[in-house]
Amino acid sequence: MNIDWGQSFNFLPVPTDIHFGCGMLSSLPVHVRTLGGRRAFVVTDPGVRAAGIVDRLTAVLERESIDFAVYDQVTADSGSTLISEAVEELKGSGAEVIVGIGGGSALDTAKAVAALATNPGSPLDYVGLHKVTVPSLPFIAIPTTAGTGSEVSLWSVFTDDARKLKVAIGGVRLFPAVALCDPDLTLELPSALTASTGMDALAHAVECYTNDACQPISGALALRAIELIGTHLRRAALNGRDRQSRYAMMLASTMAGVAMNSTRLGLAHALAMPLGSGDLKIPHGVAVAVALPAVMQFNCTAAPNRFAAVARALGERVEDASPLEAAARAAAAVRRLADDVDIPMHLSGFGLKEEHVSTVVEEAMKSGNVAVNPRRTTPQELSRILGSIV
Ligand SMILES: [Fe+2]
Repeated sequence: MNIDWGQSFNFLPVPTDIHFGCGMLSSLPVHVRTLGGRRAFVVTDPGVRAAGIVDRLTAVLERESIDFAVYDQVTADSGSTLISEAVEELKGSGAEVIVGIGGGSALDTAKAVAALATNPGSPLDYVGLHKVTVPSLPFIAIPTTAGTGSEVSLWSVFTDDARKLKVAIGGVRLFPAVALCDPDLTLELPSALTASTGMDALAHAVECYTNDACQPISGALALRAIELIGTHLRRAALNGRDRQSRYAMMLASTMAGVAMNSTRLGLAHALAMPLGSGDLKIPHGVAVAVALPAVMQFNCTAAPNRFAAVARALGERVEDASPLEAAARAAAAVRRLADDVDIPMHLSGFGLKEEHVSTVVEEAMKSGNVAVNPRRTTPQELSRILGSIV
């Protein structure tokens, strides 16, 4: 790994108590009780409910005589109104602990509900960083995809309903109290979701490792996550019942999630916010997965040694290559990986048209992820990148 020996840096410690392992769901009652809960408020979405995972969770709670209420109306990138409604249900339920189970939208919604349970007003009052000042209600995050890293992140992303725009609240008060990472919960995840969420985790690791804010502690986690994803994502997408690859992917996702809290990300994530907004509403994992190879191709000349390390982590032979050639192999390797797991090359199938480019780029340029991207980026350059994946 590349270390800049003169670098000063900050690593934000993740206070979340991480419990990782197959079957870890069964430990939920212990953690609810440790956090002082006699009643839990479970936040999830209809898909997780239909997959039978909520029933497994509630059976675990019933066995240990822990009372619960379930809110299962989370939608993709839940809106601010939905979050406020869920907060009212929570308050009516009398629960002391929130349990979020699902993908990024379910966990981010549960995270916002936990914050709004103790901080007055609307979620929109807290958009930005460190505006949540009162500690959240205790929140246990249980991911059912290996991608978002939300179970260990300080961000909650949701939709501002009035502006139809994805926004985020972030800060140390948002960290889940406990993350229960149980790879068995991903065994039934369909191949397409496995692929897009896995590519999202890869984007977290690659953007974290190669951006201007990267530092040795986050970098070590990110590089190991890249290795794991390069080795295991194809197998997980091809055969969802492969427990070893499911374990590796969830491990990689959580490691990348810890890493990115300290560094922010890059252009793929800057683009994903507006691509997931308005009438487009392209799923986050898909937007990031399609954008990542094009963004890497643009960025690789700005940090060739770091991109060369990414290429090595992905199993590429780079000993015979110049730093620039080695860096380009990282972008090519990610493009091959995306292709192998059936990520499309373009977003036209998800409704993206040439006419969207200027508004998406205008919003994307406002992202803090542009400021840390390894290559300085003009709106014209970002338009060219986005234009290449329309
Ligand atoms: Fe992401």
